[in-house]
Amino acid sequence: MQLGSVKVLIVPNYHSMSEWVAREIATRVREIPHLRLGLATGSTPEGVYQHLIQIYYRTGVSFRHCVTFNLDEYVGLAPDHPQSYRSYMTNRLFDKLDLTMSQTYLPLGNSYDLMDECDRYEQLIQSYGGIDLQILGIGLNGHIGFNEPGTSWDSDTHVVRLTSSTRMANLRFFHTLSDVPTHAITMGIGTILRSKQIYLLAAGEKKAEVVRRLLLEEPCIKLPASALHHHPDATLIVDQAAISKVKW
Ligand code: F6R
Repeated sequence: MQLGSVKVLIVPNYHSMSEWVAREIATRVREIPHLRLGLATGSTPEGVYQHLIQIYYRTGVSFRHCVTFNLDEYVGLAPDHPQSYRSYMTNRLFDKLDLTMSQTYLPLGNSYDLMDECDRYEQLIQSYGGIDLQILGIGLNGHIGFNEPGTSWDSDTHVVRLTSSTRMANLRFFHTLSDVPTHAITMGIGTILRSKQIYLLAAGEKKAEVVRRLLLEEPCIKLPASALHHHPDATLIVDQAAISKVKW
């Protein structure tokens, strides 16, 4: 199904969404062993990673030639900080597959020179020839990566100040609000749009309003995910609950 230029795949629930995306990734890795995979953190892709690990153990599909690039990382957290996105990825995926640390990239949030780190990360992605398949989640305000409403659609990797709603949404991973970092490094919307293919995942009733806006409102800088309407191969994979506000 297609509304605007983002393709839409509707699946029954979170489990089927996760299974479908994990199978797709495994199929792509079999076809292109050197796949350059863009990854996200947050709650949404956790099921995909669990299914991918199961497929890896069941079928032996190998990731040893892949490289991965994560969307973002908190500023001020060392890679081995328990709440860093590097730790999230190591614990939930990287350590469970045949991937070594040298194949997996995230921005360095504790870098001495953050501007320099953003340039380095952007160039690193380009030096590999860009991302083949980027997995995205969507924030309640339509953010992708940490690109909050108003971010330019041609932005490269950059430092962002996190909005209070994003910090509140991420509070569940920290003890107190003051522990939640105030800034992050994120791939820009331009960086994301240069990926060859994009899967945007949305599940659950909480995402129904932002999915409605994405599919039924005019693409606009106030809704960062709507930039995907300008991508030639972007698919929204959505469960019944998250599509429930879209009436045809
Ligand atoms: C994560 C990321 C964010 C999340 C978004 C949705 O790397 O870049 O854009 O994808 O905040 O988060 P969840 O999946 O927790 O609802």
